[in-house]
Amino acid sequence: MPFMRGLRIVGGNRLVGSVTAHGAKNAVLPILAATVLCHGAEIKNCPDLSDVAVSCHILRHLGYAVGRQGDTLTLHREENGCRDVPPEWMRAMRSSILFLGGMLARCGGVSLCPPGGCALGGRPIDLHLSALRQMGAVITEEGDTLRCTAPSGLHGAAVKLPYPSVGATENLLIAAAGTPAETAITGAAAEPEITDLIRFLRGCGVTIEASPGAILVQGRDTLSGCTHTVLPDRIEAATYLAAGAVTGGAVTVKCDPGHLAAPIAVLRRMGCKIKITGDSVALTAPEKLCGAGSIVTLPYPGFPTDLQAVFMAAAAGAKGYTAFTETVFPRRWAHVEELRRMGADITVAGSHAMLRGAALTGTALTCTDLRAGAAVVLAALAARGESTVTGLSHIERGYAEFVLTLRHLGAEITIAEI
Ligand code: UD1
Repeated sequence: MPFMRGLRIVGGNRLVGSVTAHGAKNAVLPILAATVLCHGAEIKNCPDLSDVAVSCHILRHLGYAVGRQGDTLTLHREENGCRDVPPEWMRAMRSSILFLGGMLARCGGVSLCPPGGCALGGRPIDLHLSALRQMGAVITEEGDTLRCTAPSGLHGAAVKLPYPSVGATENLLIAAAGTPAETAITGAAAEPEITDLIRFLRGCGVTIEASPGAILVQGRDTLSGCTHTVLPDRIEAATYLAAGAVTGGAVTVKCDPGHLAAPIAVLRRMGCKIKITGDSVALTAPEKLCGAGSIVTLPYPGFPTDLQAVFMAAAAGAKGYTAFTETVFPRRWAHVEELRRMGADITVAGSHAMLRGAALTGTALTCTDLRAGAAVVLAALAARGESTVTGLSHIERGYAEFVLTLRHLGAEITIAEI
């Protein structure tokens, strides 16, 4: 078999030190999609991730000049660019579907294929499509192509989402921002990344009133564009805190602690001491973590599904039991098999997983998706002996400078041919 680029990790080092969370992947992707409504924008604190690179490819294809200097992205529309998004960019990530709302509002239509992204066990887009239809979109499926048009332009609507889908809320919000009418969204998602998108759209001149679950948008024909600083990535921040916890270390992360209440509560239950300041969280771990009791993933402000795998890795070697209930993506268990191969004792039944702490031993591991990838790396950092990890491209979709940051904290981790 040919060599693959992967990671070599020797477990057992205590992680100690301070890191700063990058800009949030899940905030910058919808903001870049919303940029199709503007002539240009300047996005600061933009993480250097492969999913961001895909968004930039799509924006170039849609007529934008895209430049990056450090962590600042500059976008400027050079031509009308109302054209379909090629299937290879649609399939490269889930967030490419977020271009739909903006393209419908500005161009009156677009054809695209269903998006790709992490395989979390079925990721339909019915809520996106039904919400846009309520604004006047006509969407038909022809084979693998969605033909989306708004023959007489989109109109305002009162849309009630039956589930607070993050992506559907964002698509609808972007479509509503580019439609000169009033749109009311109820049952909306309330994730901090939605609030960041609202901040960006307000900066572009859109009037938006928002309270948890309800958003009222007074859209416009043309948006001015603005300079926006992306909020810190709460999932990345919690991943580094969990890395400190699982290695018995002491890690401080500069981030927005207000967005981390649920994971911080779990880390405290596992025996970690946590000190919170205005813009940082400092964790000191006990020598051995305790089981976390019950962890139930829920829409924000509940415990994030994106941290379920990472916290399972943290609990795998702890003393005692942790019970997981996955209500957001009920079949998001791809990491379980990898953790078991290290010695983890986990039983899955439907949307539940029961874990009993056990000693972990390093082995050959694979990243099956973005957060599962982070989880196996954390487990390997805590395990006895050496591990190899392949499937690095998954991690690079969502963690900027991952290996460098872990090494800075004292991990023995290198990129290697495996
Ligand atoms: C976003 C995040 C992802 C996170 C998830 C939940 C981005 C780029 N991704 O994904 O990291 O794990 O929120 O916090 O921001 N659903 C439907 N029909 C739809 C849409 C969703 O049935 O049309 C279901 C999904 O299958 C899933 C649940 O709703 O079971 C939540 O999905 P959603 O909130 O839409 O997640 P994403 O926006 O895909």
